[in-house]
Amino acid sequence: MSDLWIAPSILSADFARLAEEVDAVVAAGADLIHFDVMDNHYVPNLTIGPLVCEALHKHGTKVPIDVHLMIRPVERIVPDFARAGAGFITFHPEAVDHVDRTIDLIREHGCRPGLALNPGTPLDWLDYTLEKLDLVLIMSVNPGFAGQRFIPMALRKLEAVRRRIEASGRSIRLEVDGGIKVENIQACARAGADTFVAGSAIFGSGDYAATLRAMRAQIAGA
Ligand code: DX5
Ligand code: ZN
Repeated sequence: MSDLWIAPSILSADFARLAEEVDAVVAAGADLIHFDVMDNHYVPNLTIGPLVCEALHKHGTKVPIDVHLMIRPVERIVPDFARAGAGFITFHPEAVDHVDRTIDLIREHGCRPGLALNPGTPLDWLDYTLEKLDLVLIMSVNPGFAGQRFIPMALRKLEAVRRRIEASGRSIRLEVDGGIKVENIQACARAGADTFVAGSAIFGSGDYAATLRAMRAQIAGA
């Protein structure tokens, strides 16, 4: 695993062959499996939950599962995802009543907490939480769907969060999610991202290994 991680989002995988798809992207060089959980409530789409996470974990998925919760409420389901083998659990601050408590809950269950900030969400949410986080996720689309267009404002946010992470002196992943492709991944790396989610750009490509190689070449050259 290099210090720059690529996290294919299985939202764009063929769900009828999910384990095979996960094995294929891991063999192609994925560092994390990005697992998008949507509830048709916090976001207008409905996807997968702890049962599917557990099935992939039991299947023997060889890289950490990066759970991205786009749901409300959050707390009730955190222990289920921990039991299901989640590595990171990332949530949106607007979806909870007590951000600090939810971060603690994730940590107490042995997972690594992350906070996800939507395109319109200010960075102030990090003022009193950054020190407790293992990951900050900057959304470069509004959450809910794969295949949307990258919002360039995310680059400025990445730069600002990178400065905050450096100032904290802690090792915190800076992840970007939404509309990431071979063509714009380098700009995200230059802006300070070190963890890159890509769904349609990977699963929609004919050759996962070639796409991951092309992405890695772009970020290595940033
Ligand atoms: C969007 C999800 C993303 C999505 C990314 O709400 O959080 O992880 O799957 O898909 P692409 O890379 O196609 O934008
Ligand atoms: Zn996501």
